[in-house]
Amino acid sequence: MAKEIFAKVEQIIEEIEKAAPNDKDAVEQFRIKYLGTKNILKPLMGEIRNIPNEQKKDFGQLMNKARQAAESKFEQLQSSLDSAAEAAGAGDLDLTAPGDPIPLGSRHPIATTMNRIISIFEKMGFAIASEREIEDDWHNFTAMNTPEDHPARDMQDTYYLKDSTEMLLRTHTSSVQARMMEHNQPPIRIIAPGRVYRNETISARSHCQFHQVEGLYVDENVSFADLRQTLMYFAKEMYGADVNIRLRPSFFPFTEPSAEMDVSCFICDAKGCNVCKYTGWVEVLGCGMVDPKVLENCGIDSEKYTGFAFGMGIERQAMMLYGINDIRLLFENDVRFLKQFTSAI
Ligand code: PHE
Repeated sequence: MAKEIFAKVEQIIEEIEKAAPNDKDAVEQFRIKYLGTKNILKPLMGEIRNIPNEQKKDFGQLMNKARQAAESKFEQLQSSLDSAAEAAGAGDLDLTAPGDPIPLGSRHPIATTMNRIISIFEKMGFAIASEREIEDDWHNFTAMNTPEDHPARDMQDTYYLKDSTEMLLRTHTSSVQARMMEHNQPPIRIIAPGRVYRNETISARSHCQFHQVEGLYVDENVSFADLRQTLMYFAKEMYGADVNIRLRPSFFPFTEPSAEMDVSCFICDAKGCNVCKYTGWVEVLGCGMVDPKVLENCGIDSEKYTGFAFGMGIERQAMMLYGINDIRLLFENDVRFLKQFTSAI
């Protein structure tokens, strides 16, 4: 009887050693059969009561041997399964395959237009000044010689902060002129790019927010000829060496004399098209000699110093350069629109 039981266990050990399950499921079957909670060794353990006392120890050792055989076989099977899976994985990995494309963004047409303008003036030695968009009435209007009864100060045109008659969203970057002059003495040579706000009805041609680049040069002996040359250089760098400029007399409270600058239409070579409305000229900016009153308001000696200033809108220039016919597209951030633009700057 005992002999038979010993033989049975020996046979199981042999089975275990020979077993060669070759896939995941078969290995799992092996585990259940020899190591699971209802493994085939378990009932044999109960047979110990039929074993004579002097052989019980040997029987115990044999049973241990069987369990260890099952355990080490299972470990071995599992690690060969793992390395087979790894090898299969490595086979799939093609190191020469092209990577997943990284979608590249594009710069906003306002940013690229602005950057072009900035780099032209930087070449001429202008420094960049950035200032606040929430301004007080003094820097936006009073210092800039804009009288109390000027229509621009009307609530209709200017966004004042809630319940305030003092604080507003700047209506032009000319407020930066006042901020620069009150804190610095000439020579001052800056450009101020930034966003401005006006209470306008939004349409294809106008928006309540837009961008400007302001320019200011104050020093001894700055003349209108300097202004004209600076703007001429800008126009040729921006729109091509063949363009011409013309200055038309105009009015701004903070410059005297004042002018508006047109550039000969670079779309149609001044022959006449939609963009220039068949006049051959497109309006680009307002400019003039800084009014002595403005210099004095900001603490600069107007007997000693003179200056010129200019201010240009960015959106209209971007629209002409890129052939965009509705200003609202520039503020909607629709990627289908934006991804049409590529630029290095
Ligand atoms: N601030 C003026 C505007 O917004 C432009 C301007 C700037 C004109 C500087 C003259 C000098 O229209």
